[in-house]
Amino acid sequence: MATMESLISLVNRIQRACTILGDYGGDSGGAAAASLPTLWESLPSVAVVGGQSSGKSSVLESIVGRDFLPRGSGIVTRRPLVLQLHKTEPGITEYAEFLHKQRERFTDFAKVRKEIQEETDKITGKSKQISPVPIHMSIYSPNVVNLTLIDLPGLTKVAVEGQPESIVKDIENMVRLYVEKPNCIILAVTPANQDIATSDAIKLAREVDPEGERTFGVLTKLDLMDKGTNAQDVLEGRAYPLQHPWVGIVNRSQADINTKVDMIAARQRECKFFSTSPDYGHMASRMGSEYLAKLLSKHLESVIKTRIPGITSLINRSIDDLESELDHLGRPVAIDAGAQLYTILELCRAFDRVFKEHLDGGRPGGDR
Ligand code: GDP
Ligand code: NA
Ligand code: MG
Repeated sequence: MATMESLISLVNRIQRACTILGDYGGDSGGAAAASLPTLWESLPSVAVVGGQSSGKSSVLESIVGRDFLPRGSGIVTRRPLVLQLHKTEPGITEYAEFLHKQRERFTDFAKVRKEIQEETDKITGKSKQISPVPIHMSIYSPNVVNLTLIDLPGLTKVAVEGQPESIVKDIENMVRLYVEKPNCIILAVTPANQDIATSDAIKLAREVDPEGERTFGVLTKLDLMDKGTNAQDVLEGRAYPLQHPWVGIVNRSQADINTKVDMIAARQRECKFFSTSPDYGHMASRMGSEYLAKLLSKHLESVIKTRIPGITSLINRSIDDLESELDHLGRPVAIDAGAQLYTILELCRAFDRVFKEHLDGGRPGGDR
């Protein structure tokens, strides 16, 4: 199992290195850079989809176990945020890094939120506009699972004042761009206090993943349901059956955010909500943010396992491309781009090595 974890971690690092190299543009990357988007796209990631204020950013935050995302009523998330979680050795201080500010380490997560807001405004203005240009960031922490998460603007049914009419379609198309990729695991976030039959998240997920192979239904705001009603039918898979089990969530309310209820207190309260609930007590062990994070990590492992042969052959192709690219480094090349090529090459070799160890480790017991 330890090997699988290091594979996921390598996948994350390769994704990150590909992103950085992609940023340096084509002329220095050459053939190697051309094969990297294919590699990137074959690596799994997790995206949140749902209506505005359904709780997408809150769900991502609680998977990470850290307060750092802009949240609130209305259209808060206005650019895609590609977030890579890297599990580090215990005892290391958690920090975040942005692709657009590589030399700076953020240890204060309130500053991370501010940076995301400023970087959003930089492109969209302080308006209600949206932009498809993603913000890339990484979190290094002993307390996370290795995952790439994507926070997306919420689907909406009508434009509000200050927004062009096209915004409804623009957002849907932007979201679709991420979730239609077969490597994308979809968290379809639906608030329990609204009519689930009209959930935009489920509708879009069904469209791009009709078999429900890569869709996880996430039901938020269970604490806000009308008294006397409950979501057992959904959570037990009867109302909207999906291949993967539905997970119920209780995030922090706006009042909690205003009074700065912290993550640990929120988690404890969520646990208590389920374990003491007459409606959900019997399924409490399969509910909540912590369970969702574990479920996702496990799913990611199995996806990577099935994709390994494909990823390895792509990586071997990249290794060839990168090596021939580096042979040509006699010609002038941006120093940073050259360094990045080496980094990717090293990561690809590491992946290949760990993968082989993983296979060897799997024998003679067979598939584990
Ligand atoms: P997003 O727009 O989908 O990213 O949603 P946010 O995460 O920004 O949340 C929107 C608002 O709903 C915020 O005020 C949250 O505090 C609130 N919220 C989200 N999830 C829950 C929940 O499970 N219960 C309650 N009571 N409020 C929630
Ligand atoms: Na919101
Ligand atoms: Mg959001």
